[in-house]
Amino acid sequence: MPAGFDLVVLGSGVAGLSAAVHAASAGQSVLVLTKGELAHSATRYAQGGVAAALFDDDDSPELHLSDTLAAGAGLCDADAVRVLATEGPDRVRELMAMGAEFDRTGDGAAATLALAREGGHSVPRVVHAGGDATGAEIERALVEATTATAAEVRERWLAVDLLVEDGRAAGVRAIDPSGAEVEVRARHTMLATGGAGQCFAVTTNPSLSTGDGIAMALRAGVAVADVEFMQFHPTALHHPSMPRPLLSEALRGEGAVLRDQHGVAFMADEHPLGDLAPRDVVARAIARRLIDRGLDHLWLDATSIEGFSARFPTISNACHEVGLDPTRDWLPVAPAAHYLSGGVCTDLDGATTLPGLWACGEAACSGVHGANRLASNSLLDGLVFAKRTIDAIEAGKDGPDATGVMRGVTARAHAPAAAVARGDATRTDVQQIMTRDAGVLRDAASLERAAKGLATLPGPSSPDVQNLMTVSDALVRAAIVRLESRGTHTRLDFPERSSEFLGRFVFAGGEPGFVPLAAPAPEPAR
Ligand code: FAD
Ligand code: SIN
Repeated sequence: MPAGFDLVVLGSGVAGLSAAVHAASAGQSVLVLTKGELAHSATRYAQGGVAAALFDDDDSPELHLSDTLAAGAGLCDADAVRVLATEGPDRVRELMAMGAEFDRTGDGAAATLALAREGGHSVPRVVHAGGDATGAEIERALVEATTATAAEVRERWLAVDLLVEDGRAAGVRAIDPSGAEVEVRARHTMLATGGAGQCFAVTTNPSLSTGDGIAMALRAGVAVADVEFMQFHPTALHHPSMPRPLLSEALRGEGAVLRDQHGVAFMADEHPLGDLAPRDVVARAIARRLIDRGLDHLWLDATSIEGFSARFPTISNACHEVGLDPTRDWLPVAPAAHYLSGGVCTDLDGATTLPGLWACGEAACSGVHGANRLASNSLLDGLVFAKRTIDAIEAGKDGPDATGVMRGVTARAHAPAAAVARGDATRTDVQQIMTRDAGVLRDAASLERAAKGLATLPGPSSPDVQNLMTVSDALVRAAIVRLESRGTHTRLDFPERSSEFLGRFVFAGGEPGFVPLAAPAPEPAR
């Protein structure tokens, strides 16, 4: 057993900090290691909110489950989604007890939580904070809760690779703020390093979202799945700034409408839920029009929303900064890489194929998101599965069981990562290849071009570029072999969904292997 901490948590977003608070409160010695400042994460940019069936009148965990399965396009693990939908409300209440303040409607003692509606949700169930600053409030509350525990925090430490000893995770090799390489040892290691939107040139994700934990897992032969399912948010503001300012789906929940270049509202012809269709449907509808008509953006008309700047202050400021007034102007929009539905395979308790290694949040693939994450299910995912992971560690669990995505996934030999020769490939090099050839709409030729482009890049100029290259390569390889269109993976040359591909492409130390779903989830009609 390695000496050191009981638990080292890599990352300080909603997943990592939730885990740290629960573990430290349970008496574990905890180290939070994070590559920026403690409060720096994708979490803090979250706008729309947290989806949870908090009230029984019009909503229920069953309905939330059914909406999530419908959005997930046949690839959700129904057990994982049931866990998310049933445990979610308690985790949201717990977060409020920690000090997170969500927006309310009504006055005084009669005030109740204000609920918004977003794409793919059949009822309003999204709690939000500061109008459209939900992530900032959650991050604030969790940073405060973490610093109130005995957990040690190391900021500006970059985790580079897993330590693997005697078939189990023994901690992590990291670079400290002075640039020195240090081994951090722990009995349990948690990957809570977030997503990989930075693989693409057009993304809503902050610069830290470089898929580090997923890349570390891939290099160590830990099972990773579903990485072809990069979700593109349909309504990023079309503007050169990076990351792209997001125009929350909650705008459409409040009545905003997508319009084409002639001003025609088109979503009603695309899906029964119209502008509130699941995100993959909306992104595809926009991307098709952009390509067919040679455009670089369409429009979001939010001029009907009353009290815009009070309800959406972040978005209002972002628009005004670029000279747009959302109460008068239609807003130029185009899809942007937003959320990686796949990641490091876990069971329902966050356990990966490597004993001692756990994964939570966007870095993980527990099966809750399938081929397309339902809006505002990600923050909830981090809250729910971080708590379950710590409960499992407390209960003495020390390896995966055959639940969630781990059903059918067998552990193979895990190995410490091999050293990679450095070169001068940059982040931009990777991003240009991926945006040009592996974006919303793909085909065999574009994906082969992407694979070749990545393979012929010189070595990475830094660890984050190395991680982008590792994750992009896996994404493209899985996308090449998934000969169908499903969820966020759209193949122009295979436009239909195929029952042959009702399963996951899993990387476990080599080429992606296909693992059919053991128990396909019932897919509610929409
Ligand atoms: P993150 O919050 O990304 O945190 C990852 C952490 O890991 C960071 O602290 C990072 O610094 C650290 N890290 C990464 N690599 C390393 C390394 N090598 N070494 C050390 N530390 C490392 N979801 C919703 O549910 N509702 C929303 O309204 C919503 N809105 C969104 C709006 C925007 C603009 C974006 C970008 C995302 C939004 N999402 C939303 C998605 C959601 O915010 C993220 O999926 C979620 O916050 C991920 O949380 P996480 O804890 O897994 O990772
Ligand atoms: C949004 O507010 O549109 C983003 C919500 C999400 O990514 O879940």
